Amino acid sequence: MEDLIQRAAESLIKARHAIALTGAGISTESGIPDFRGPNGIWTKNPDAEMKAYEVYDQFKADPKRYWEDRLDPQGSTSRLFAVLGEIGKFQPNPGHFALAELEKIGILKYIITQNVDGLHQKAGSKNVIEYHGGINKFRCFVCNRRFSKDELNLEKIKMEGKLPPYCPCGGVIKDDGVFFGEPIPNDVVEGSRREAWKCDLMLICGTSAVVYPFASLPEMANQGTIIIEVNGEPTALTGRISDYLIQGKTGELLPKILERVTNIT
Ligand code: APR
Repeated sequence: MEDLIQRAAESLIKARHAIALTGAGISTESGIPDFRGPNGIWTKNPDAEMKAYEVYDQFKADPKRYWEDRLDPQGSTSRLFAVLGEIGKFQPNPGHFALAELEKIGILKYIITQNVDGLHQKAGSKNVIEYHGGINKFRCFVCNRRFSKDELNLEKIKMEGKLPPYCPCGGVIKDDGVFFGEPIPNDVVEGSRREAWKCDLMLICGTSAVVYPFASLPEMANQGTIIIEVNGEPTALTGRISDYLIQGKTGELLPKILERVTNIT
């Protein structure tokens, strides 16, 4: 293990453009369950996972009804968002802070995360692409313009009987979170591809790497790109796409890698 940590630190220092790809596993030590681990949200709530596959079609079929259900405390979609809504109260852990520090010292250029929890930004990371969107944000389904919670007074729109909310461009507004089956917004696809093609090192942390198209990013990396996994268990990339796996908790291993990097430089 120690030799893999040393090896990762040396590769990070030599890297011209290192990026990190992260998933739910990096936030479990903050108290947010992952999806497919033993205590995962989907593992524990198979119904919620089934429901999650229906939401996008419901939204497309009838955005007004989608929002009425979403804003109805008894609504089925609102329960799903109640679970997700709690996410905002959690705090980053040493894994998030280690990546933020690696950015600050110029080693890490970008983070592409599947997480909607905003913990990378809370930890101080600046260059973050939220591949599946962000909690507490909204997005125009047509022009992709993002709206913060303050910019969109949903209760007022509801009270005035003006649901669904519309963007000034005329498009319907939805939650920024990307639903199963929903295409990833163009600007996110372009930014992620740019980084996947530009990087010469990918540090992949806390993801089972089974959800596409995110899981295709490591496959897009150029020949010779060093791909290092930090994860609690082997993943769909291990022994296939990644060079090696450092197996364990991201909250423990990433600070160790950072420490080695700072000791070497
Ligand atoms: N440290 C390291 N690895 C961990 C830790 C930890 N503290 N906690 C969990 N893991 C690992 C698990 O063993 C698992 O391999 O992280 C991985 C998390 O995988 P998933 O639960 O599948 O989460 P993720 O890959 O992010 O899911 C992708 O699926 O449900 C959708 O939209 C959702 O963004 C999510 C996407």
